[in-house]
Amino acid sequence: MGRVMVIEHPLIKAKLTKLRDKSTDRLLFRQLLEELTAFMVYEITRDFPLREVEVETPLERTKGHELAQPVVLVPILRAGIVMTEGVLRLVPNARVGHIGIYRDPVTLRPHVYYKKLPRNIGDALVIVVDPMLATGGSAVEAVRLVKGEGAKDVRFLCLVAAPEGIRAFREAHPDVPIYVAAIDRELNDHGYILPGLGDAGDRLFGT
Ligand code: PRP
Ligand code: URA
Repeated sequence: MGRVMVIEHPLIKAKLTKLRDKSTDRLLFRQLLEELTAFMVYEITRDFPLREVEVETPLERTKGHELAQPVVLVPILRAGIVMTEGVLRLVPNARVGHIGIYRDPVTLRPHVYYKKLPRNIGDALVIVVDPMLATGGSAVEAVRLVKGEGAKDVRFLCLVAAPEGIRAFREAHPDVPIYVAAIDRELNDHGYILPGLGDAGDRLFGT
């Protein structure tokens, strides 16, 4: 079974609480989602391999480091798109692919409506991002598409996950670690996470 890492940090907990708050407006929700993503990416990238490079300081030449492998970021539209800026703040050279998926409100099954991924991602460190892992259908499908393009090292980053979604994801992709800020209690009858934060896309885009 794949690993699940709950990223524990006082700032993450405090910001996530504000994100959950129903009185948080669209602008703040967006800012918090970006900031939380940046904090989480700091942890996710902890084991990324480095290679040594030379750098010229104003005084002399010395040894330094750069990431040894390219990074590819794949947000799941719509809500994941806002997380892109949070990742790019820390990994500005990452290439970005997009996967558009919406959940059928009745069956809760994922429907893919868009896919554009960078070429040659076989040697890249791929981070798939979406704020919510509910039934797991969307994330399972997105990672399947990314693997279909040849990706071998994939990580999934979300903020709030339901136990049901974690189970489904780990079964489908036991090789892909999940990084979350919180694992919530359960799904309601409409597939929403409880206590959750509501519909992330609607809160971000005012739909
Ligand atoms: C939300 C969310 C995830 C998905 C999670 O997107 O951003 O992509 O639901 O649910 P699942 O784990 O049950 O698949 P939604 O389908 O509402 O689309 P949107 O981002 O366009 O609002
Ligand atoms: N998608 C969301 O945006 N929120 C949920 O609680 C479940 C799915």
